[in-house]
Parts: sequence; C-alpha cells; structure tokens
Amino acid sequence: MATTITVAIEKGGCGKTTTVLNLADLAGNEARVLCIDTDPQGNLTYSLEGTRITDEEFTGHALYDLYNDFEKVHAGEKSVRDYVVETNLDNVDLIPASLETPKINTKAKELIDAMKQGKMDNVENLEYETQILKYFVSLVQDDYDYIFIDTQPSRDSLLVTSSLLAADYILIPAKSGSYAVDSAFRTYTYCNQLREQGIAAQKGVGLIQTMVQQSQAFNITRENYLRVLGNAVFRAQIRFGKAVEASEMAGMPVVEYAKTQPTAKSYVAAWKELKQILAESEGK
Ligand SMILES: Nc1ncnc2c1ncn2[C@@H]1O[C@H](COP(=O)(O)OP(=O)(O)O)[C@@H](O)[C@H]1O
Ligand SMILES: [Mg+2]
Repeated sequence: MATTITVAIEKGGCGKTTTVLNLADLAGNEARVLCIDTDPQGNLTYSLEGTRITDEEFTGHALYDLYNDFEKVHAGEKSVRDYVVETNLDNVDLIPASLETPKINTKAKELIDAMKQGKMDNVENLEYETQILKYFVSLVQDDYDYIFIDTQPSRDSLLVTSSLLAADYILIPAKSGSYAVDSAFRTYTYCNQLREQGIAAQKGVGLIQTMVQQSQAFNITRENYLRVLGNAVFRAQIRFGKAVEASEMAGMPVVEYAKTQPTAKSYVAAWKELKQILAESEGK
C-alpha cells in the first residue's frame, strides 16, 4: 500500500514543485509512483508532461473531473485510474491539474451538501469537503508505493487542507529568510492542529531547507528551524544551483539533467533520509 507524501508550505517559490518532481523521479527508479498536482497553476503537470494547463490537453480528465465524476467513481462506473496519465518519467504517473482546478472548491462543497441532504449516498461517511481527496487516494493506494501531492502556496485553502489530510507524511520545503521561517512555522502549526483535531492522521511532519547557499542568513535560519522543530529538520539540505532553472527549461528533473551537481546530490541525500524516516514511522 502506498505511502502518501504531501509537500506544502504557504509561501510560494520555496521549492515545493521542484522537490516533488525530483523526489518522485528518484522514487520512480525503485518503486511505483503517483503524483497529484493540486496547484491550479499546474507547474508539476507541465514539468512531468510538457503540457501547459492552457493547452487544455487534460481538460475533461484531470483532478477536477475526478471530483465532478464522484458518483460514477463511487458507483464503480469509472475508476480513479481513468484520470491518471503516464509521464515523461519512468514509473511515475500523474493526476494532472487543468484550467478547471479552481472549480474543485465549489464542486467539493456541492458533493458534501448533497450527501448531507440525503440526495446522494455517503457510504464513506465523508463529513467534510476536505476529506474527498483522501477517499480518492484510498482507491489507488494499492497500485503504488509512493504518492506525492504537490500543493499551491496557501495555508488552509480547500485543496491544501485536502492534501494535508490525505498525507501519511508532510514535507515542508523552506528557504532562508525570516518570511520563509514565519511561513514554515505557520504551516507546521497548522499540520499539527489538524492532527490534534483528529481530522488528519499524518505520522510525521518534516522540514527541509531548500535553495541553500552558505551565508549568515542561512546560519540564522537553520538555528531557528532547529530550535523550534528539532529532529523534524532534515539533515539533508537542498543546495541552490543554477542547474535547476536550466533543467526546468529542458523539461527534466535536476537529478537527471545535472546528476553531478550539488543540487542533484542533495536531492539524492534527501530521498534517502525521507525513506529512512518513513520506514521508521511505519515500524519497518
Ligand atoms: N535548489 C534550487 N536552486 C535554484 N533554484 C531553485 C531551486 N529550487 C527551486 N528553484 C527555483 O525556484 C523557483 C521556485 O521553485 P518551485 O519549485 O516552483 O517553488 P514552489 O512550488 O514552492 O512555488 C523555480 O523557478 C525554480 O527553478
Ligand atoms: Mg509549485
């Protein structure tokens, strides 16, 4: 059964999508991987598929359509697999974003209202609109070893909360600087609140520093993270590298495009550390 890893931080530009892309690629070398692009911007979809959401290639069979077809999926007339596409990477599949992703907000509420009003069966006992994604994930869990969920920069939007509730493990990628520190702490606190309220069930939350360059700001930031989060801070640090931008232009993860560069090596170390954490949290 798959382990689901959600990558989230409310601040934009901290390396969420880059982290999902590279960890998914590394995971794909040894296991079956599914990525879910919940960010309406569709950057992960573009990186994995070479298709911009404005090309509308996935319109009609993307993440929004899964919600739209909830009843058919629930009745077994459709399967979550109908919304999964293959990607440019070996062993990595994707449920893509589309231009319609923002409509999930309204659709999810409509579904829960219909269930509450008895207009629709609710065999899964779904209480909140934010639990629907976890239900979809549960339907494909046996087909994969790892499921990575990429999120939009926000703390408690429907899609971010849904992604956090679906997670076995939450990874917060954070760069240096006091704005990022603030955002990382707020996301961390929000994850713990969801768990304390009994609606999330993640087994762990970790923070990994991204775009790392040796500087006074980096040192102060790391001290802050370690002081507040302790063991939750990854030993691996993702190095800043110009190769990331170049790899993006080439439509490849940096771990493939520039294997010998520090950024690629640091993603390899991060993947190793993450696997170890997951194994420990699952008591393996
Ligand atoms: N390790 C890195 N070194 C250099 N640039 C990076 C690195 N990671 C990400 N970037 C660049 O930073 C920008 C934001 O990264 P992205 O992964 O899109 O963040 P997010 O998904 O959190 O918004 C991208 O343009 C990307 O090329
Ligand atoms: Mg992103």
